[in-house]
Amino acid sequence: MTAAPLLEVEHLQLYFPIRRGVIVDRTIGHVHAVDDVSLSLGEGETLGIVGESGCGKTTLSRAIVRLLEPTGGAIRFRGREITRAGRRELAPVRRELQMVFQDPQASLNPRKRVGQIVGAPLVLHGVKGAAVERRVRELLGRVGLNPEHVNRFPHEFSGGQRQRIGIARALAVEPKLMMLDEPVSALDVSIQAQVINLLDDLQDEFGLAYVFVAHDLSVVRHVSDRIAVMYLGKIVESSPAEELYTKPIHPYTVGLLGAIPIPDPRQNRARRRLVVAGEPPNPIEPPSGCRFRTRCPRATDVCAAVEPQLTEYAGGHVAACHHPLNVTDAEIAAARRSPLSPLSSGDQLPQPHASLPGGDAAEVAAEG
Ligand SMILES: Nc1ncnc2c1ncn2[C@@H]1O[C@H](COP(=O)(O)OP(=O)(O)OP(=O)(O)O)[C@@H](O)[C@H]1O
Ligand code: SF4
Ligand SMILES: [Mg+2]
Repeated sequence: MTAAPLLEVEHLQLYFPIRRGVIVDRTIGHVHAVDDVSLSLGEGETLGIVGESGCGKTTLSRAIVRLLEPTGGAIRFRGREITRAGRRELAPVRRELQMVFQDPQASLNPRKRVGQIVGAPLVLHGVKGAAVERRVRELLGRVGLNPEHVNRFPHEFSGGQRQRIGIARALAVEPKLMMLDEPVSALDVSIQAQVINLLDDLQDEFGLAYVFVAHDLSVVRHVSDRIAVMYLGKIVESSPAEELYTKPIHPYTVGLLGAIPIPDPRQNRARRRLVVAGEPPNPIEPPSGCRFRTRCPRATDVCAAVEPQLTEYAGGHVAACHHPLNVTDAEIAAARRSPLSPLSSGDQLPQPHASLPGGDAAEVAAEG
């Protein structure tokens, strides 16, 4: 029997109600922040999650650690269902499933000393007296901070140092999985590399698994085993990390890849700039069919009429697009024949490469 994955998320939904009314509060709609997201992660692995601002990355992370109540779907941690678990049931899971927050400034209580902040999860889990201080000093040293600074307040540290405090706090109770919500996006580029290297070392040392959230594909490239791309509450593509960069299938991923700067300025100038044009649509009323269709240069009538389902291609590469890029007709046909394919019966779609706008990957959302 194979062991259950460390984390399994199935068809997760999280909708925020929108309320209006001066006297009587009434719900007038919902923000579809996370809509039918499935993913899975093994021990010691890293899953990168990437997408533009507002696509639901933080909501997904918070729902997984149960800081937010899911609207639907299931979350299993080490085989145990935790989707609706109460406080008592969640306590042992919380120890193993920690979160590092997007904004180190806002996530550290400004009135607490760093020793109290890093020691709080230890106290919560029953560690007492001198053992707390000993462990806090050890942790500060481990994340590259001066253990003598236990009595300082958060504002006495730099941004990068504050993120190290957040990492030490998450590490304190020896978790199995850390949800890292844009752990480096608030930091200078030079400091980002230091914090990513620290996370890499900690993963090797403690066998940690990470869900590493970023809005930029360049940040997660070298740390992820697998990468999932999110658009407006949904995962639209997911693949082994390197393959996403060499063989992107979804037009949105191609657009995001175009936003990655190339180190050589001459190459950068020579290349056509590829970015995703326009603004994401309103998540309260997502577009019909494919949610990306309002910005996609390959969109056709079928994209507005039928929502593309995630389809698995060779090598565990999954994408939801009616007109996928970088796959041959034979690969598409094979994916459709797979028993796992949502299109394996009643194939209602047109042929994939029939006269499309933007037929070449390099033309996706090209600017000039
Ligand atoms: N408490 C809330 N009530 C209502 N809507 C919310 C709430 N929190 C987030 N949202 C909305 O849910 C959507 C997803 O937000 P979320 O913060 O998860 O995005 P994100 O991908 O983390 O963005 P960023 O990269 O800017 O951090 C957005 O449209 C946001 O406005
Ligand atoms: S081609 Fe159609 S289905 Fe594919 S991303 Fe564009 S709009 Fe969506
Ligand atoms: Mg966020």
